[in-house]
Amino acid sequence: AKEQYHEFVIREVPVERLCRSHDVMTVNGQFPGPTLEAEEGDTLVVDVVNRGRYNVSVHWHGVRQMRTGWSDGPEYVTQCPVRPGQSYRYRFTVAAQEGTLWWHAHSSWLRATVYGALLIRPRADAAYPFDGQPARELAPILLGEWWDMNPVDVVRAATSTGAAPNISDALTVNGQPGDLYSCSSQDTAVFSVKSGETNLLRFVNAALNTELFVSLAGHNMTVVGADASYTKPYTTPVLLLGPGQTTDVLVTFDQPPGRYYLAARAYASAQGVPFDNTTTTAIFDYGDGVASSSPAMPTLPAYNDTATATSFTTSLRGLRKAELPSRVDESLFFTVGVGLFSCSKGQLCGGPNGTRLAASINNVSFVLPSAASILQAHYHGAPSGVFTADFPANPPVQFDYTAQNVSRALWQPVQGTKVYKLKYGSVVQVVLQGTNVFAGENHPIHIHGYDFYILAEGLGNFNAATDTAKFNLDDPPMRNTVGVAVNGWAVIRFVADNPGVWLVHCHLDVHITWGLAMAFLVDDGVGELQSLEAPPPDLPPC
Ligand code: C2O
Repeated sequence: AKEQYHEFVIREVPVERLCRSHDVMTVNGQFPGPTLEAEEGDTLVVDVVNRGRYNVSVHWHGVRQMRTGWSDGPEYVTQCPVRPGQSYRYRFTVAAQEGTLWWHAHSSWLRATVYGALLIRPRADAAYPFDGQPARELAPILLGEWWDMNPVDVVRAATSTGAAPNISDALTVNGQPGDLYSCSSQDTAVFSVKSGETNLLRFVNAALNTELFVSLAGHNMTVVGADASYTKPYTTPVLLLGPGQTTDVLVTFDQPPGRYYLAARAYASAQGVPFDNTTTTAIFDYGDGVASSSPAMPTLPAYNDTATATSFTTSLRGLRKAELPSRVDESLFFTVGVGLFSCSKGQLCGGPNGTRLAASINNVSFVLPSAASILQAHYHGAPSGVFTADFPANPPVQFDYTAQNVSRALWQPVQGTKVYKLKYGSVVQVVLQGTNVFAGENHPIHIHGYDFYILAEGLGNFNAATDTAKFNLDDPPMRNTVGVAVNGWAVIRFVADNPGVWLVHCHLDVHITWGLAMAFLVDDGVGELQSLEAPPPDLPPC
């Protein structure tokens, strides 16, 4: 294992898409940003130097960060943001994880353009654990979203009025909308492939607010990993990735020479909520000199094809037997959903019926602190004015979460910066229950600092009496982000073996903006966080 160094200079550069140009925040002037390539066990040292005009912090999405919480990145949770003119050194090890992860800004909506792949390959003396080593791997495929205006302005406009933000103007593959958009014929990502080869393809859904179906014309894909955990091989014509999720697949290029579209578009179970219903494309080119006039187009599922979505997610199985004690020490039940705040005097009330949109877990709408990060406040034993440790283990009221007419009182969240304390080493089970208010998309729930097993998923209300029997304790998939259906549930389990403060949130940026978040605070088994390293000297002040 080696140590590698990188410098990420955050600066604005003009980027033109769809015939319009505006300045976007980038890393080293690149959009999408640079790919980090590591071997399992490597240590990465990354200096983030902010030469842009916004505060920024960078999160290494899916990296376990064992006892390195100061490098996790979410602003006001593990650090204060790096202000223009400042820099901060992140240092972490990628161990016991292999596959595709990614990094992204964790401030406002800057991750719309500040993101890139983080690949963790087996050590030089190790092989992939699947049959048939790929002849080679293609460049990572990053799915994203593009706005014709600065995404920070998009979210600022929405939070000032309480209304929903504008949907994106294009979906993208590696920053390019693709040639189905008008004024975009030059902006199509192209992948050159060779007849007969089997290649490894790595997908990341870096879109802000859109879960995506992905298909490659004429080719099936065999899923071998997701969120940097290996899966049993699963062959399918279509993938589903929620924002935050990654999927590694093998593809054999055994079709007649020519060009084939890779296409992606939204999955939204939809209840009249607007979403970007356009299609982004890239071209897979066999490069045999056969330039067919137009590439073959795959058939994508309909935007509301819940059957296909469910069949994809429930077909994934962990490659290895789950390593989980059979006991459960903490049994939590979290409702995740969108709701409304009643509007107070002097506020703009752009939400439905003169309200402001909000989102919550167990009816608590998360508010970022500003005086210090939660981790700093906790480390110094000074939570006062920063957070409280009274996040509820259960929703305040039990109700029919998926009923069409949920009583209004039950949608109205309270605001707070609340954490839930977990004992070091405890086995934690969380039932994540999606509610049915003002949401058309699954909630991709992401936990920082942890991978978790997904024991079961279903539609409707979770029913402990009957659904517990469906738990897969043998080969459940391990992930860092799980799509919780708007009208459904997922049950996850993990061992709280990583001391620190770990954000839990919906990876739709619009929902984190509205407060769909909380944090776990895990002690170190000694005292509180006494065995954690002291904050680095360059930790930015608030
Ligand atoms: Cu990739 Cu807190 O997120």
